[in-house]
Amino acid sequence: MAGEPPKNKHRGTPGFLIKFFQLALYIPIQVAFFPIAIVGLIDAIFKEMRNSKKLGVSFTAIQALQYRWIMHYFDTRPDPISVAFTKELPCESHFGLWSTFGALIISQRLFGFTTRFGRVAEPGKETLFSTPGRRVLMFDAIVEKYVDEMEQIVIPGAGFDLVALHFTKAKNTKVFELDQTETLHVKVETLKKAGIAHDWITYVPVAYSTESWADKLLAAGFDKTEKTLFLWESVSLFLEAGAVKKTLREMAGLCAGGSIIAQDFYSKAFISGETSRTVKRSSRMIDRMGEQWRFGIDMSNDPESAIASFLEDCELRMTEYCQFGEKLGIEPFYCVVEAERLDNV
Ligand SMILES: C[S@@+](CC[C@H](N)C(=O)[O-])C[C@H]1O[C@@H](n2cnc3c(N)ncnc32)[C@H](O)[C@@H]1O
Repeated sequence: MAGEPPKNKHRGTPGFLIKFFQLALYIPIQVAFFPIAIVGLIDAIFKEMRNSKKLGVSFTAIQALQYRWIMHYFDTRPDPISVAFTKELPCESHFGLWSTFGALIISQRLFGFTTRFGRVAEPGKETLFSTPGRRVLMFDAIVEKYVDEMEQIVIPGAGFDLVALHFTKAKNTKVFELDQTETLHVKVETLKKAGIAHDWITYVPVAYSTESWADKLLAAGFDKTEKTLFLWESVSLFLEAGAVKKTLREMAGLCAGGSIIAQDFYSKAFISGETSRTVKRSSRMIDRMGEQWRFGIDMSNDPESAIASFLEDCELRMTEYCQFGEKLGIEPFYCVVEAERLDNV
């Protein structure tokens, strides 16, 4: 469902001249937006920080939704469902996002002034900035690849990801989404308010500190004998290493033959903020909002083997491996992998 990158409408004109005129047109628009942006930013901060705390909603789930909103408006991934959802979510401000990004969105649409928001990195050329967008597209591709083959899809730590709504409507696949009770409650209420059909999805709220997610999944109707796709996107980094291993072993124990667990991992260096100051600032903000980056894998030397061996320790065999930033010659910081049960029968 990735959108086409914006086309160059100005063939034949030198690039620097085009950029100059685009910038000259963009600046007054941005200036006009400035007062609205201040009001919008206040509204966004209030909703994202205060309301999310009040409602007990995961702040990082809101951040992940923001990328999908941004991708929609910058034409890199059409996602009207996430936009409709954002408008009704009590912990996000559609107006705040528009007022912040509006000048750039209008400039891209009117006269092709593209910034890095309007570009998707080529596979292998992902930077820290372009990782979230490429990650979303990769998980879309994984769901598309398996949706007709799998009898069940399970999304633990689903947050405000609406990928299942995009790909599983009118399919014969059972879908289970799990997350912390408050986050999932707000998700379902927001879907209802936005009038987004979601009746074929089973939402399984879990109080992770006192309840077993696997037991709750089984009680919700999950069938251990059916082929399943597990999607574990951007969750493991928030858990302790022991909890990541335990969760993956439990997933492996629930996998019938032919099942796949798709997930992502960050490097130890990324988690610790060594890779960049911006990353360190993000990590501090997430920390203040009550979540923490905790788990990363040492990717400094042969990351593929390090991840394969970590997965083996969790009773899993890696079947697909995609490392970000590979063609840039930078130290590996992120990867998306697929795995199957070691004794896949
Ligand atoms: C960055 S969000 C990712 C959400 C979603 N997978 C996505 O890609 O949009 C992290 C999610 O992990 C969930 N989470 C946090 N702690 C968890 C835990 N201990 N066990 C399971 N999920 C947890 C949060 O509620 C949140 O929804």
